[in-house]
Amino acid sequence: MSKGKLQKFAEFDAFENTLDFNTDTKGRWHEIFGNQNPIVLELACGKGDYTVGLAKRNSHINYVGIDIKGNRLWRGAKTAVEEGLNNVRFLRIQIDFIEKHFEKNEVSGIWITFPDPQPAKARKRLTSSRFLAHYRNICKADAQIHLKTDSDLFYESTKETIAEERLTLLENVENVYTQPCVPELKEIQTFYEKMWLAEGRTIKFLRFLLNRL
Ligand SMILES: C[S@@+](CC[C@H](N)C(=O)[O-])C[C@H]1O[C@@H](n2cnc3c(N)ncnc32)[C@H](O)[C@@H]1O
Repeated sequence: MSKGKLQKFAEFDAFENTLDFNTDTKGRWHEIFGNQNPIVLELACGKGDYTVGLAKRNSHINYVGIDIKGNRLWRGAKTAVEEGLNNVRFLRIQIDFIEKHFEKNEVSGIWITFPDPQPAKARKRLTSSRFLAHYRNICKADAQIHLKTDSDLFYESTKETIAEERLTLLENVENVYTQPCVPELKEIQTFYEKMWLAEGRTIKFLRFLLNRL
């Protein structure tokens, strides 16, 4: 492993806003944040661009950025420290085991930003029925999923899952940069999003209810 990566891992562990699979967090998130504000997750957050961007805009909401790669999370954690954001934490875990880290009804909403499209393994897509079932075990009944993606495959397969599970689609934006949508979708750009935009890809957005109400 490179020296830079090792140093980032050490710094990541030392930040006060970072946690990993060794930390006992399940059912303790309000205690960790020191308030009763809603808890919203960014899954596959990478450098945590949405975690930080949304936290700056919504000081009354707590955000947890989740990814398995500590060297990427390091960037978001450092920015949050530098900007004095108390409503941000970063958690280094496999999303597949999310129920080990959050209690039933502990989570109010989920953002998924530029997830790997997993062309050969539909079950591994973060909006597959398998993953939605994991999210139901930790989310409040009225939780919304926000998905931002460049991938036609991921976008179409998510719409199929929404239809198959008869979930309510609240918003469908085929091109975030040409269609009307909430400002934060245009204003907050992730690391991967900037790369895909430079290649001329179209950025899509879906917002849907996790449960049939
Ligand atoms: C394409 S990157 C997107 C990162 C960031 N959202 C962005 O837009 O810049 C996908 C991220 O998902 C993470 N990831 C994929 N599957 C995961 C899983 N099962 N558990 C935790 N992280 C996962 C990867 O580590 C990677 O950082």
